[in-house]
Amino acid sequence: MKCFHELPSADGLWTGLRLAPDAASDVPAADGEDAAIVVDQGAIAWIGARAALPPAFAALPSHDGRGALVTAGLVDCHTHLVYGGQRANEFAMRLAGASYEEVAAAGGGIVSSVNATRAADEDTLYAQAAPRLVQLLADGVCAIEIKSGYGLAFEHERKQLRVARRLGEDHGVTVRTTFLGAHALPPEYAGRSGDYIAEVCDRMLPALADEGLVDAVDAFCERIAFSLAETERVFQAATRLGLPVKLHAEQLSDMGGAALAARYGALSCDHLEHLSAEGIAAMHEAGTVAVLLPGAYYTLRDTQLPPIEALRTAGVPMAVSTDHNPGTSPTLSLLLMVNMACTLFRLTVPEALAGVTRHAARALGLADTHGTLAAGRPANFVLWQLADSAELAYWLGQQAPRTIVRQGRIASMAHALEKSVG
Ligand code: NIG
Ligand code: FE
Repeated sequence: MKCFHELPSADGLWTGLRLAPDAASDVPAADGEDAAIVVDQGAIAWIGARAALPPAFAALPSHDGRGALVTAGLVDCHTHLVYGGQRANEFAMRLAGASYEEVAAAGGGIVSSVNATRAADEDTLYAQAAPRLVQLLADGVCAIEIKSGYGLAFEHERKQLRVARRLGEDHGVTVRTTFLGAHALPPEYAGRSGDYIAEVCDRMLPALADEGLVDAVDAFCERIAFSLAETERVFQAATRLGLPVKLHAEQLSDMGGAALAARYGALSCDHLEHLSAEGIAAMHEAGTVAVLLPGAYYTLRDTQLPPIEALRTAGVPMAVSTDHNPGTSPTLSLLLMVNMACTLFRLTVPEALAGVTRHAARALGLADTHGTLAAGRPANFVLWQLADSAELAYWLGQQAPRTIVRQGRIASMAHALEKSVG
């Protein structure tokens, strides 16, 4: 595979484009028109209707989009991409009737991935995660969150976060790292969760943050994980270090985690099947994004839907993500999640597309640089050979032809674009 930095530059004038609804943040009423994008030194220098192109750009080398639909680069705002092994055995257990909680109680679940992650060295973890990242990127993903949380000890959490950083550098993709030390209680702390939370807050987090490995802090607030009070200790530690927080909240039960997270100004609360009216109000007040994870809902054969209509009515922004992880959401297609968000959660197509672009960017604190197209932003956009943006949600697990411009480079070319020097 070519190293990212050897890929062709996307600089020049991109023509023959149809901007997908909602794709551009500063181009009024350009939807569907013959649009153009000018890329200069890896950033968007201009975007708008072709007819309004400033003459200074007209002679640039051009890339003919041949009528392609254009969206911002997709953003996958919740993944656990770096881990050792896989957990197909649990899939079989759940098919035989065991619940996620029962699998965890039987020694499976998160802790079994912790054992495999601890046993792998950094290069092994990298080698396992890189092909997964490549597959995710093929859907047009240009920014991704990667959580730790399968190490649950300083050196192993560090190893995961270092791999996440390396993946971003090597593949030319924006990676936001999230420290999820409070994901599960490691076996060596059985019966001493308070001591483990102290280790997370007082030793692991400050040292990892000091190394520049932490962009945000997350926890799993649940009966099988950490209590509300323990979660708050993690948030206090993050706040002391000036780091934003997010939360795995109300996935299996209503713990009141979303309201707590909102009090700490959380970027996002994720899962939310059991979210209460109080949680919704608190999230709205704080501007916290609701991250919906249909892959986990589907895999766990959950029947409790997140309160979509109430979130919609309250005006809480809804993002959609893969939650890629080896236990509850072993998917590597963000577009499949768009389909499932519509089919299972009844999002409209525009809602689901905003969920993997601008709302997902906001859930990562990247609203100023990712998720919509505007002059001055890094050039992250996707050309889809599709008639209608609804096709992005409609196809079930099929790859639509696409050309991906990521961080100013042509990362994938699904059809032969004509490049002529003008
Ligand atoms: O987002 N809910 C907790 N964490 C993950 C699952 C992790 C696992 O089972 O390995 C999630 O679904
Ligand atoms: Fe998760």
